[in-house]
Amino acid sequence: MAKASSSFVCQNCGAAFNRWQGKCEACGEWNTLVEEAGDSAVPVSIRAKRRGRTFKLESLAGKSNDAPRLPSGMAELDRVTGGGFVRGSVLLVGGDPGIGKSTLLTQATSLMAKAGHRTVYISGEEAIAQVRLRAERLGLAAAPVELAAETSVEDIIATLSEGATPKLIVIDSIQTMWTDTVESAPGTVTQVRASAQALIRFAKKSGAAIILVGHVTKDGQIAGPRVVEHMVDAVLSFEGEGSQQFRILRSVKNRFGPTDEIGVFEMTGLGLREVSNPSELFLSERDLGSPGTAVFAGIEGTRPVLVELQALVAPSTLGTPRRAVVGWDSARLSMVLAVLEAHCGVKLSGYDVYFNVAGGLRINEPAADLAAAAALVSSLANSPLPTDAVYFGEISLSGAVRPVAQTPARLKEAAKLGFGRAVLPEQTRGDAPSDAGLSLQSVGGLTSLVADIAARGTPRPAARERDSAEKNATPARFRQREG
Ligand code: TYD
Ligand code: MG
Repeated sequence: MAKASSSFVCQNCGAAFNRWQGKCEACGEWNTLVEEAGDSAVPVSIRAKRRGRTFKLESLAGKSNDAPRLPSGMAELDRVTGGGFVRGSVLLVGGDPGIGKSTLLTQATSLMAKAGHRTVYISGEEAIAQVRLRAERLGLAAAPVELAAETSVEDIIATLSEGATPKLIVIDSIQTMWTDTVESAPGTVTQVRASAQALIRFAKKSGAAIILVGHVTKDGQIAGPRVVEHMVDAVLSFEGEGSQQFRILRSVKNRFGPTDEIGVFEMTGLGLREVSNPSELFLSERDLGSPGTAVFAGIEGTRPVLVELQALVAPSTLGTPRRAVVGWDSARLSMVLAVLEAHCGVKLSGYDVYFNVAGGLRINEPAADLAAAAALVSSLANSPLPTDAVYFGEISLSGAVRPVAQTPARLKEAAKLGFGRAVLPEQTRGDAPSDAGLSLQSVGGLTSLVADIAARGTPRPAARERDSAEKNATPARFRQREG
């Protein structure tokens, strides 16, 4: 009899190997290989040879009869999914433990159930009593959501196949699900992949929309089953700093809608509250008039979002100065620092640099460069920026300020929130800015902006007591003012 095949599967990327090894050759992670029985999700008996069946090919221009989308009734959630859940689609919601995934989905299912749709919430992690407790706390206990605490995929599919097809099914979480078709333990890549596959098949066949909840590992990936990300139709990630009440739902992949659209929520004692004007929220606790802060007029998806960027530049006692970034790309910060140093004479090599995006937002746009540079120079020169100014523009390696998209939308949002001026690139891409009631200050190169900010600065008192080595690290233009 043939030996039962087993393979070593990387729990990070899903690559399979014949023998154990310390490092996964596919993704480079260490100690991620786990022995799993069976190398295929489908048992051999089912894979028995059979002749293919013929099927009819369809034209691209066909009609699909019923309304494919089902809005959840939470505007911020619908914005991220692209207008609601698509029939027969599978959506993966990832996020750190405790960020509020179960809360969000309890609220969404309750709203849909109240609107008369059949919704089912399957919890593999919590007992029914715990789910009920949460619903009670959210004031949603009366919603006709059908609940179950189950982990067997076969049982779940058998139960849901009976009666009217549910419109929405939540599986919380995919890591707790297991299927009989493979022998690995629940939570392993093989199990998660096979369970997801079975559920996806059920969604396509029945037309129900399924939401899978997935946990995130310490390095921000949806744990183990990156493979699941490829299988599902959309991946949403629920982010936020645990200590802050803001939560951001971001679409990472979406076959039926936009990516880079965000939904903003606030975690309150009564569950998640939707925030329809995020700029107001991100600017609500502004530290007016202190150096090192600049307001960035950004675009998240289709929506302009104003957010405060904070920088602290402090003399370093370390051989290699510290660079700490929260909410922005650290490579991007290094680039801006290098441009400031190379083209504007701002020597930052003797300074620690701390950079933070207020409110727990994560910015991916290159348009944030100019605002970041303004905040950095403002901190170094101890020169508060005008409190009524917003900044945006991309910085190129030559020190030029490059145009960015959607200038009018950024200006309009700034004007709406009471800002009086905007510092922006000289040229604009696309539509020319109508003045929108703001006074516009265009900058062609970073040098002129730096000179402008430094000219208004007052050196920090501590700067006078610095030793000569540190003085050498101070830019010439700032040193003059000290002398
Ligand atoms: P939960 O939805 O269980 O997180 P996840 O499913 O992502 O692991 O949310 C847990 C956190 O949310 C918990 O720390 C408490 C907090 N919370 C509130 O602040 N208010 C609420 O109304 C609820 C239900 C939870
Ligand atoms: Mg949960």
